[in-house]
Amino acid sequence: MDPSERRAGVAALFDHLAPGYDRSGVPWFGPIGARLVELTAPRPGDRALDVGAGRGAATFPLVDAVGPTGHVTAVDLSPAMLEHLRAEAEGRGARVEAVVGEASPDTLPADTFDVVTASLVLFFDPQPAETLAGWVRLLRAGGRIGLSTFGPTDAAWAAAEAALMAYPPQVLDARTTGRSGPFATTDATAALLEAAGATEVDSHDEPLEVILPDAEAWRAWTMTLGLRQLWAAVPDRELPAVLTRIESALEPDRGDDGRLHLTQQVRYTTAARP
Ligand SMILES: C[S@@+](CC[C@H](N)C(=O)[O-])C[C@H]1O[C@@H](n2cnc3c(N)ncnc32)[C@H](O)[C@@H]1O
Repeated sequence: MDPSERRAGVAALFDHLAPGYDRSGVPWFGPIGARLVELTAPRPGDRALDVGAGRGAATFPLVDAVGPTGHVTAVDLSPAMLEHLRAEAEGRGARVEAVVGEASPDTLPADTFDVVTASLVLFFDPQPAETLAGWVRLLRAGGRIGLSTFGPTDAAWAAAEAALMAYPPQVLDARTTGRSGPFATTDATAALLEAAGATEVDSHDEPLEVILPDAEAWRAWTMTLGLRQLWAAVPDRELPAVLTRIESALEPDRGDDGRLHLTQQVRYTTAARP
């Protein structure tokens, strides 16, 4: 599959997920986007770009940080995600320039932005090194870039996903390619940014806890994420057996309160353009 076909697949997936995206009641994209913006440290008056903005998990914290004298551009491959972002911006009275497509020096002005963020995006890209180098070139000298990706999950969560990984999807995602190559370790993710021409690179993981009543709730929640593709790849007749496997895989995470306490390490990688 060539890169443009893969990107079309990503756009189609998120067009499909857009209505329920980040509306599951589980704090997930919101805290990750807010923390990414905090670590990337935009300042009042900055010109900011949020790549793969989705429904705005990082975009709206950027709007708050740059204030009325700043400017925020949100770019996404998925028109449906940006429709929801536009509606949210209107509801909040927030000024956001929403652009459907890819962020690169061919589509946006190079050497311009003070801050670029991409929260949970780069592992969907078929050519992450080239794509990231393009994002760095959009920064002015001294501008800052921040990426969030995923580190490891706890062992029970990993075992539950392993039951799904037996049926790998056709589209790149955080759970398959997103855990290998340049996304495998903090050092590898930092090296990706250095190779893209950035300096002052910091890459570290921070834990995020997800609390759910049971395995069925895990299924319902993960169906609202990119993980949906993994569920979609399971043949119908094998679904009951997969669910049973997942139920017992998640059991070690049950706490004294009777609920499942799952932990995802979220990787934050920040850098500057020299
Ligand atoms: C997991 S969502 C994250 C959305 C948002 N940043 C958040 O944290 O909620 C990934 C988003 O990135 C978009 N995307 C993936 N690759 C992209 C690319 N190369 N350029 C622009 N958008 C991209 C998808 O369409 C999707 O909306």
